[in-house]
Amino acid sequence: MTNNSENRLSRKEFFKRLGTFILLPAGFFWYSSVTRGKESHTRTRQVRLATPINKGITFKDDIIVNRDDRGTKIFSSRCTHLGCRLNKIENNEIVCSCHGSKFSKDGKVLKGPADKNLQQLEYIADKSSKEIIINVPA
Ligand code: FES
Repeated sequence: MTNNSENRLSRKEFFKRLGTFILLPAGFFWYSSVTRGKESHTRTRQVRLATPINKGITFKDDIIVNRDDRGTKIFSSRCTHLGCRLNKIENNEIVCSCHGSKFSKDGKVLKGPADKNLQQLEYIADKSSKEIIINVPA
C-alpha cells in the first residue's frame, strides 16, 4: 500500500521543476540570440583580384588596394568615422566624401573626424587561379 502523499509533489518541488522547464528554454533562446548577433559581425565574403595588381591605389568593391615597391596592402573601403565608402584620392591621400576625413595610402588617419585607421584586411595568394583572395567583412 502506497501513501498518496509520497506520490504527490510538494509545492516547493513543483515550482522547482516548473522553473527548470521555463528557465532552460529561456536561457537557450537568450544564448542563441546573443550568439546570432556575434556571427553577423564576423560574417565575411570573398573578393578575388586577378594578379598582377597595378601599382598605386585601386578601389574595388569594398576594398582599397595599395601596391607599391614595399608590397601590397589591402584595406576595407569603409570610412572609420561613420562607414561611408571611400573611393576618392586627392594629393596622394584617400579622402572621404561624406565628412572630409583623410587617410594615408597606408590607411593611417591624417585628418578627422575619423579617429581610427582603416581596417587592414588579410589576403592569400591562390597560385592556381593567379588571384589573391580577400575576406571582406560583410
Ligand atoms: Fe567618412 Fe564621416 S563617414 S568622414
